[in-house]
Amino acid sequence: MKITVVGAGAVGATCADNIARKELATELVLLDIKEGFAEGKAQDMMQTAALLGFDTRISGSTNDYSKTANSDVVVITSGLPRKPGMTREELIGTNAGIVKGVCENILKHSPNTIIIVISNPMDTMTYLALQSTGLPKNRIIGMGGTLDSARFKYQLSTTLNCSPSDLNALVVGGHGDTTMIPLIKHATWNSIPVTQFLDEAQQQTIINDTMVGGATLTKLLGTSAWYAPGAAGAALVESIVRDEKKLFTCCVSLDGEYGQSDICLGVPVVIGKNGWEKIVAMDLSADEQAAFNKSADAVRNMNDVLKTL
Ligand code: LAC
Repeated sequence: MKITVVGAGAVGATCADNIARKELATELVLLDIKEGFAEGKAQDMMQTAALLGFDTRISGSTNDYSKTANSDVVVITSGLPRKPGMTREELIGTNAGIVKGVCENILKHSPNTIIIVISNPMDTMTYLALQSTGLPKNRIIGMGGTLDSARFKYQLSTTLNCSPSDLNALVVGGHGDTTMIPLIKHATWNSIPVTQFLDEAQQQTIINDTMVGGATLTKLLGTSAWYAPGAAGAALVESIVRDEKKLFTCCVSLDGEYGQSDICLGVPVVIGKNGWEKIVAMDLSADEQAAFNKSADAVRNMNDVLKTL
């Protein structure tokens, strides 16, 4: 199994670190445009192998895509991160060109790969990856909902005082502060609806805190977060390479599902060796469906900006 992570910044390096520790690949390539940067991070990570006991060979490359040839999975983290006060959407002007170039280069050397998109604005970058690679839709996966659902579980766990991994909770829709939809009425604590334990005000606080989860960290850190985004990317890689068929919310191409088409948006999907293998239908309430449609409108407006670049 060969995996490439494009972008050796904090998110890319954390993702690669998780992939190595879990031994998801025999070969792991880290690529970056900054001279020597990916090589340095790869060497540093390789020097943890004897301490952590993993057998993945990690190498770095300064923009030489021939090193990524025949990758089974490619994770794209390239582009600028958010600065405090910025929305993910404001990054489109810079990141669209970068992500398009990365996709074209990846495809030249790995024409059958599965791509996981982390770069922001993630929904539009996923749509761009689908269009610019022409890969079958099941091979293009946007990571956003996986991260947002993990943040939702974190927020729920702090209020419920329970283990985050005992929770089932999904965030659907876009990966934007105002476009994501934490589905609290569907969330359970080991099958028990969380709404049994939370009053309306508590539910609203958890929803709001989840939606601004990324922005809160950007304010605290001065740049966007990396541990959870990197771990979310690696969790998707794991479900692909081990063919786990786990259910995550991911940003995928919709063709009538959830009432939307010609858009990539976050819905529950099964992730396995073929990429996203199935969109799982969920009964949304009228309010939830309306929020989903509103989210789709916002993402579609952002996708339209691609035509002007
Ligand atoms: C975040 C970025 C990765 O939400 O979108 O932290």
